Amino acid sequence: MRKTMVKTQIEARGIRNKKVLHAMNKVPRHLFVDEKLAEKAYNDYPLPIGEGQTISQPYIVALMTELLDPDINDRILEIGTGSGYQAAVLAEIVKKVYTIEIIPSLTEKAADALEKTGYSNVELRTGDGFLGWEEEAPFDGIIVTCAPGEVPQPLVDQLKEGGKLVIPVGEMFQQLQVFEKKNNKIEVSDSIAVRFVPMTGISQGEVVLPRPKYKGRISVEEAISRRTSIRSYKNKALSLSEVSQMLWAAGGRRTDAVTEASRTFPSAGGRYPVTIYLFAGNVTEMPAGLYRYQWEEHKLKMIKAGDLRNKLAEVCLGQEMLKNAPATIVFSALEKKTTSRYGERGRRYVSMDVAHAGENLYLQAVGLDLGTVAVGSFDDKELEALIGVRGEFPLYVFPFGKLK
Ligand SMILES: Cc1cc2nc3c(=O)[nH]c(=O)nc-3n(C[C@H](O)[C@H](O)[C@H](O)COP(=O)(O)O)c2cc1C
Repeated sequence: MRKTMVKTQIEARGIRNKKVLHAMNKVPRHLFVDEKLAEKAYNDYPLPIGEGQTISQPYIVALMTELLDPDINDRILEIGTGSGYQAAVLAEIVKKVYTIEIIPSLTEKAADALEKTGYSNVELRTGDGFLGWEEEAPFDGIIVTCAPGEVPQPLVDQLKEGGKLVIPVGEMFQQLQVFEKKNNKIEVSDSIAVRFVPMTGISQGEVVLPRPKYKGRISVEEAISRRTSIRSYKNKALSLSEVSQMLWAAGGRRTDAVTEASRTFPSAGGRYPVTIYLFAGNVTEMPAGLYRYQWEEHKLKMIKAGDLRNKLAEVCLGQEMLKNAPATIVFSALEKKTTSRYGERGRRYVSMDVAHAGENLYLQAVGLDLGTVAVGSFDDKELEALIGVRGEFPLYVFPFGKLK
């Protein structure tokens, strides 16, 4: 079936590259789909692989590999591992393949399939492919198997001189494009129209946060005794997992909530109308910007791009630590929900709720060897305008960072 596939679907459509044809003839595609779909694996169409994702039509895999034009000594980066099949086709040709997948369960499945089929020259990682793989850059070639609206700049930056980036670009209608780096300039050429699943994550203004670890290194008693306000931070990037842990503490999401997300404190259901924002200035694995923290899903949604720390310090009456903290969490409350539910008393209620969330932040900071401080002095209207919210009133601002 594989031989027929290569003849009738791939050679017949004009693929001539010997290395590509050899690889397509060799990689057992049926081992990269569910057993139930194995007999359809060599047919002329894409197949579902779970999580709303697909394995591309064989011809598209061959075409993209031919456009990439890989050499035996190449190190190639793939964005969107999916089933792992495209990685296997590349691994058949080149020295080393690095591949990134945003959905953890797919990374695991692909790793299994690649191990079973014996491709030991593929390194997999779960993460946001938008940022590429900085530690292993530059690459001889980059292949992207999901479609961003625009080409991610980090991928262009991580391409070697003379290297090619093969990528479908667009939303509803996508064009397969080849970006080639020549004399540090980029030449773009169009291939065919295609349809890939969209690139999610940062490409769509979203940061998916790693799950918190829970394993405390110090006792609650020690954390309480060490809890103190810190107003001076080291000028060093925070990791995404540190920020993730702080946000989790701020959100206070219960882990045992079976039917829907609810917060741990304080009332039955713990559902005061509090919203949480993050100003990220210097955090690895995410672009600087202002985000809304969706505590129910433990996700960040970008509101504004760019480093807004100086502006934040300005509206907080010039307090220096807001300029220097790598990241800052802001709590605010929905005006209407606060007063319609609880009348004017509502302001007291949400303010206590946020004070407790703030204490969680202090204790979490101690556990992570970070520092924070509760900032209540700011210009209400200017902070509202900076965040761009209407009908919300900011309550507390918590800059945080590494200890000096
Ligand atoms: C209502 C309130 C507003 C605050 N506003 C600020 C502020 O704008 N800037 C600041 O540096 N600290 C602010 N703080 C933090 C206090 O100054 C801090 O809690 C105090 O220094 C005690 O230090 P400790 O937390 O180390 O015990 C505020 C605290 C509260 C309770």
